[in-house]
Amino acid sequence: MTNVVVVGGQWGDEGKGKVVDLLCPAFADVVRFNGGNNAGHTVKFADRHFALHLIPSGIVQPGCRCLVGPGVVIDPVAFLEELRMLEEQAVSVRPRLMISPRAHLVLPGHRAIDVAREAASGKGKLGTTGRGIGPTYEARARRTGVRLGLARSPKRLREAVAAASADLEQALARYPAAAVPSPAEIDAAVEAALALAPLLGDVAGALADSDAAGRPILFEGAQGTLLDIDHGTYPFVTSSGCLAGFAAPACGLPARVIGGVLGVFKAYVTRVGSGPFPTELSGGTGEHLRRRGNEFGTTTGRPRRTGWFDAVAARAAVRWSGIDAVALTKLDVLDELAEIRIATAYEIAGRAVEGFPDDADDVAGAAPVYETLPGWQADSAAVTAFDKLPELARRYVARLEELLGVPVVVVSTGPRREETIVRRVPPLTDWNTGL
Ligand code: IMP
Repeated sequence: MTNVVVVGGQWGDEGKGKVVDLLCPAFADVVRFNGGNNAGHTVKFADRHFALHLIPSGIVQPGCRCLVGPGVVIDPVAFLEELRMLEEQAVSVRPRLMISPRAHLVLPGHRAIDVAREAASGKGKLGTTGRGIGPTYEARARRTGVRLGLARSPKRLREAVAAASADLEQALARYPAAAVPSPAEIDAAVEAALALAPLLGDVAGALADSDAAGRPILFEGAQGTLLDIDHGTYPFVTSSGCLAGFAAPACGLPARVIGGVLGVFKAYVTRVGSGPFPTELSGGTGEHLRRRGNEFGTTTGRPRRTGWFDAVAARAAVRWSGIDAVALTKLDVLDELAEIRIATAYEIAGRAVEGFPDDADDVAGAAPVYETLPGWQADSAAVTAFDKLPELARRYVARLEELLGVPVVVVSTGPRREETIVRRVPPLTDWNTGL
């Protein structure tokens, strides 16, 4: 029995939803531990397609219990909509879903501040998803947040939301163009939170019981390691912890429960929003990756910035999150390219640097040192066995393994569950995932 954490190794959108969906038949519990509905996890199989933002991707697998941990911030209206979308698609949700009462609520005022601040920031804007995630985590740290647990008492919830909303309205006064939430919007948030009350449960206790009984837990990370509030490209980051090690304490569990870490990396890199991106491609190749990879946000529909695989950043992610093995996604998106580049070092102010800088300005000023590999210019799309990949594609994967120092155990060759290569090698075989 091994508890496994799945985290993004880049700037989010690596394809974690597909990987979690693939793994979860072997796990009793799937738990989300960070972020909110800034995340967008896509699961596709047969002719079905689910875009999930808050509910763990495990929900589309019938046997899994899905939990939402204390470190997640919940927009109650969005959560309820997602729940109803699943129920309309005949997925049974409520009996298998548990939300921590400690999770903080994203209120309409948090969203309004997020949007107003970004609009007022001009060139300096972070490019947030506008979902109110940052202001909600700020309120948590300021100790003025509202936790979902209050929904067990409608009176206490209404009072707390009214007080927080009044406080947020004052903060919004700094932004003359801001859309102040209407009483109806605030009421809708309260009603939605009350509707979620039956799903509240002791997430930490439930997970501790699972661990003690040998029922394996899958921790589903949101965003990506380089968006981590401390280790990412600050301030161009999200407002929660995104490293794998954060999964256990965020859920109220001891660090030792984490048995393995699977890092999900795209075969190239994308980023949405502002912030440094050394290997970004601005010309035709970047456009090609965007088009062929359908690189438009699941949450906001924004076009994603695209670039070459950055092994400097990826090595840092492997170290920070203790990644034991890699799931490499979207390899097929590179099929048509004549040459493929990998950044193996940065040059900053005339000096070669192999570590990832702590200062976002240094990352922005870094010139990538590239290694160029021949492209395979052959079809890898939908290939399901590693030895059936074009030889040069296998070489590319092998080079990434050398640069990262960990094995690539899963290769995704298309968006659907079926379009996946699983390499039955350690540590995957030690994790009892059944793959
Ligand atoms: P926020 O999390 O909405 O505050 O946005 C902060 C930064 O993180 C912005 O650059 C967002 O585009 C980025 N971000 C947040 N969530 C995701 C995600 O799930 N995928 C990719 N980028 C994200």
